[in-house]
Amino acid sequence: MTTATELKLPRLVTALPGPKAKQVVEYDAKYVSPSYTRDYPLVAKRGHGALIEDVDGNTFLDFSAGIAVCSTGHSHPKVVSAIQKQAAELIHMSGTDFFYESLPRFAERLSKTVPGAEAKRVYFGNSGTEAVEAAMKLARYATRRDKFIAFYGCFHGRTMGALSLTASKAVQRKGFGALLAGVEHIPYPYAYRCPLGHTAETCGEEILELLERDLFKRLFDPEDVAGIIIEPVQGEGGYVPAPKFFLQELQRICRQHGILLIVDEVQSGMGRTGKWWACEHAGIEPDILCSAKGIASGMPLGAVVARASLMDWRPGAHASTFGGNPVCVAAAMATMDLLESEYIENARRMGEFLFRRAADWTQKFRIVGDVRGRGLMIGVEIVHDQRTKEKAPELRNKIVQLAFQKGLLILGAGDTSVRLSPPLLIDEEQADFAVRTLEECFREVGKN
Ligand SMILES: Cc1ncc(COP(=O)(O)O)c(C=O)c1O
Repeated sequence: MTTATELKLPRLVTALPGPKAKQVVEYDAKYVSPSYTRDYPLVAKRGHGALIEDVDGNTFLDFSAGIAVCSTGHSHPKVVSAIQKQAAELIHMSGTDFFYESLPRFAERLSKTVPGAEAKRVYFGNSGTEAVEAAMKLARYATRRDKFIAFYGCFHGRTMGALSLTASKAVQRKGFGALLAGVEHIPYPYAYRCPLGHTAETCGEEILELLERDLFKRLFDPEDVAGIIIEPVQGEGGYVPAPKFFLQELQRICRQHGILLIVDEVQSGMGRTGKWWACEHAGIEPDILCSAKGIASGMPLGAVVARASLMDWRPGAHASTFGGNPVCVAAAMATMDLLESEYIENARRMGEFLFRRAADWTQKFRIVGDVRGRGLMIGVEIVHDQRTKEKAPELRNKIVQLAFQKGLLILGAGDTSVRLSPPLLIDEEQADFAVRTLEECFREVGKN
């Protein structure tokens, strides 16, 4: 009989959730913070490649990768071995007070993947929100300015500074009082639903005009703005890529006014879009780049990369006890080896494969309004009516549930989209299974 680790596709052996999963869900409700948003009762036990086995022995194909984290798949043997080797040698010493060689070695390697000729330095934290927090502090410190501009729909994290930039869902801010002053938001160039009501072609231009004509004239003098932060592909907002020209123009505007361009690549980074960084698709050179999630295959690590002349803050200005912990760095090095040797290219190829297969979805399924993204960062927008584009969050939620019942793990994103963010090692058979399963879901949900 095939064992779970030899499987390539799902195998369901109980009704879902199974009896053990039910128990864990009840247990969890008693002791774990209810602030988490679990869409369905997947109780993971072990993972292998793109597959997850639950506590009842059901195997699922994972097109969520632990929210775009497990870039090299679950428990890749090379990542596991790097973690084990490092853990046996040195688990922690704190890079903030002591030295260990792997830290500069990884910093050098990581910084060389980031566009821009100037040498760079890296600050290490433990998560995406910490990376954004550090980027904000660095931008203020380096420019001696205090204002920020961010985009509606973007998600940058949940600590107080990063939350001030986040404009994703009101529930993320509700009840927490006043956030950081000096942050303004402008619309994101969301071609399918231009927030200014313009056409997809002119949407980005109008937003840039709004920035220069209104925001810089009426709210913030550009000379007071420390940074503009953007996700090159909006993640939580629905997997929406910003057009190339938009990012290029944003860079021009930033340079014109001495504003730092901060790209948040926490979700889009580390190979997911078929290049190391999504900003490379637009040929821009960010001043500060934030990374986390996929950087260490599931170990907690966040990194901020900036030009060396910019990241020139004093000892004591910013630090974190665990940031750049040796075990996480070992996992990140192994992750980079795998991404470099095969998985970035695989993400590009499999992304093309999926986009080819999804090319006729808007013709075949009346509830599919838009399919967009880059590489293995794909958003499918679900609507009631393709003409009016009426949002259909309840249908989207049904699709997510139904996919789970069929053995495919996906997550929602934005108001009414489904996101596909599999590990970067999926093959055609797995991509084909995902396509067929999603098509079944669209058919079944679209009937009602
Ligand atoms: C673009 C982006 N930035 C920041 C974050 C925050 O990361 P973390 O949850 O690791 O704090 C996320 C998380 O989803 C993200 O997608």
